[in-house]
Amino acid sequence: MVKETESDRRIGERYDRLAERYDQSRFGGPFGELHADNMLRLIDWLLPATLKPCKVLDVAAGTGIAALRLAKKGHAVTAIDISEPMVRLGQAKARSSSLPVTFVVGNARSLPYPDEHFDLLVSVMFLYLDWSHEDRVVFMNEMRRVLKPGGLLVLEVLNPFWGPLVEWYQQFLEERRHTKSTRRQTAELIAGFEVLTTGACNYPKLAWIHRISPRLARFLARMGRYPPLRWVGLERYLLLRKL
Ligand SMILES: C[S@@+](CC[C@H](N)C(=O)[O-])C[C@H]1O[C@@H](n2cnc3c(N)ncnc32)[C@H](O)[C@@H]1O
Repeated sequence: MVKETESDRRIGERYDRLAERYDQSRFGGPFGELHADNMLRLIDWLLPATLKPCKVLDVAAGTGIAALRLAKKGHAVTAIDISEPMVRLGQAKARSSSLPVTFVVGNARSLPYPDEHFDLLVSVMFLYLDWSHEDRVVFMNEMRRVLKPGGLLVLEVLNPFWGPLVEWYQQFLEERRHTKSTRRQTAELIAGFEVLTTGACNYPKLAWIHRISPRLARFLARMGRYPPLRWVGLERYLLLRKL
């Protein structure tokens, strides 16, 4: 059992406060809708077409956007998140869409499940929150522990390619919310996994492009599945297999 750290508390409380506005702030409005749609399509695309209904854990699931999609596809989904208000909203969404997702309040760095319990893990918009590399290592050790050998992980990472640019851009944000892992740190985090495929979900200034041309933004978003855009996307989705 890991101790709850100062960053767990700080980040958790941030999402407690944001919960009621979370879906609207991330997935509302024309660009938010495009982002949500693209992210879900990308997850669908990354997963093998032959994947049978299986035991899934969505880690730091928030209000359950990915968890609900996977439940709709027939998987047995558990969604865990540190923020109780986020979990309550996710539960309400699952109830109203009659999807059997089990929502649990818990810490991603201390998952309350036995070893090798899940076939598929998903963790999106989480790894790059402003916590330390050491905390990320503990989190990824937990992911390795609860995943069956040969099991799959869909993991969203901030592309190290954009590292210095993202840092520069963040100076203009009031509160620092994201921190990138370097290339070497990312390699350390995903050690013990084989990278099966990757895709990109977002690019710097895509929201701005969307204001000028929604069609161009949609096109660029979809092209994140293919080179060269899959290499330069800001938010990269990795499909990993536990060795
Ligand atoms: C940007 S949101 C992403 C939520 C969801 N994955 C999505 O795509 O909408 C980050 C989530 O991580 C959760 N979180 C932060 N620290 C956590 C921790 N240590 N364990 C579990 N969840 C955590 C927050 O409560 C929040 O719901």
